[in-house]
Amino acid sequence: MAPSRQVLVWRHLSSSSIFQFHLWQPFDPCLNKFSISTIMATPTFYAVVVGVGSGTGASVARLFARGYPIALLARKESSYAPVVAAITQAGGTALGISTDVSDAQSLDAAFARVAREWPQARLAAAVYNAEAGFSYKPFLELAPEDLDRALSTGAKGLFYFAQKTLPLLLKAGEEEVAAKYPPTLIVTGATAALRGSAKFAAFAAGKFAQRAITQSLAREFGPRGVHVAYTIIDGSIDTPWGKDRVANGGVADGKISPDAIAESYWYLHTQPRSAFTQELDLRPSVEKF
Ligand SMILES: NC(=O)c1ccc[n+]([C@@H]2O[C@H](COP(=O)([O-])OP(=O)(O)OC[C@H]3O[C@@H](n4cnc5c(N)ncnc54)[C@H](OP(=O)(O)O)[C@@H]3O)[C@@H](O)[C@H]2O)c1
Repeated sequence: MAPSRQVLVWRHLSSSSIFQFHLWQPFDPCLNKFSISTIMATPTFYAVVVGVGSGTGASVARLFARGYPIALLARKESSYAPVVAAITQAGGTALGISTDVSDAQSLDAAFARVAREWPQARLAAAVYNAEAGFSYKPFLELAPEDLDRALSTGAKGLFYFAQKTLPLLLKAGEEEVAAKYPPTLIVTGATAALRGSAKFAAFAAGKFAQRAITQSLAREFGPRGVHVAYTIIDGSIDTPWGKDRVANGGVADGKISPDAIAESYWYLHTQPRSAFTQELDLRPSVEKF
């Protein structure tokens, strides 16, 4: 059966103004079609992505915004503002909030803002995509700060984000009218989560820690209905900011399309409880592994 999206429009009274507000039911954005049908008094859902730059974060945010209102978090407004604008122009609802996920207070403030903006909405999907700084250096040239950054954004930020989102995801799963898809937490990983390599000591330390946290969460929260997945991104992502980086000799499709990653994330989110993926690896067909 083709998934559908119902749109409920009502007038929302805020302290400063009255404005039109849209509540979205999840649909399948990959099918790119929806119908405005019955207005239902259901709980409504939103998604959040932390680490929204012009690459993977933007692609994931744009795709999930076709199914949900979405909160976009990054430290700099310049990182998320163009994505908020693109989603809004396309008719979606996006809320950008300057947030440092490695700072618990900053993350608390972001979720407090989301709760103020969308007081009735429940969290359907959370994506951890923060870029922890790629310190590709000979070990003897690494500074302790490189390790600190890899661990603070790679691991501590995920720890805070998971502690913030898992109670919300559990709550979404307990609603009388449940979310259409299992509440989901997806974490963007890398090959360095599986093995260390020369010049990867700091980066791999952060990614190993991320994978350890995510595996543990999957085993604890899967039985409670929350899908926790880790993606092993094995190759260079074709980001706007990394255009000059040559991968696989510059052959066509030698880099991973961030839009293709986003589609895999939507697929993870829509998996039924009887068949959860815990780890998903993605690489270009020409990648050596
Ligand atoms: N690019 C690749 O080739 C590649 C390959 C394998 C795996 N990955 C993984 O993919 C993920 C990122 O995807 P991407 O490379 O395409 O990057 P992206 O989505 O274009 O941008 C990620 C964003 O994370 C934000 N960020 C960094 N630290 C943060 C913090 N403490 N709090 C909140 N936001 C923060 C940055 O914005 P602000 O500076 O504004 O905070 C940055 O723009 C990372 O997990 C990375 O390890 C990337």
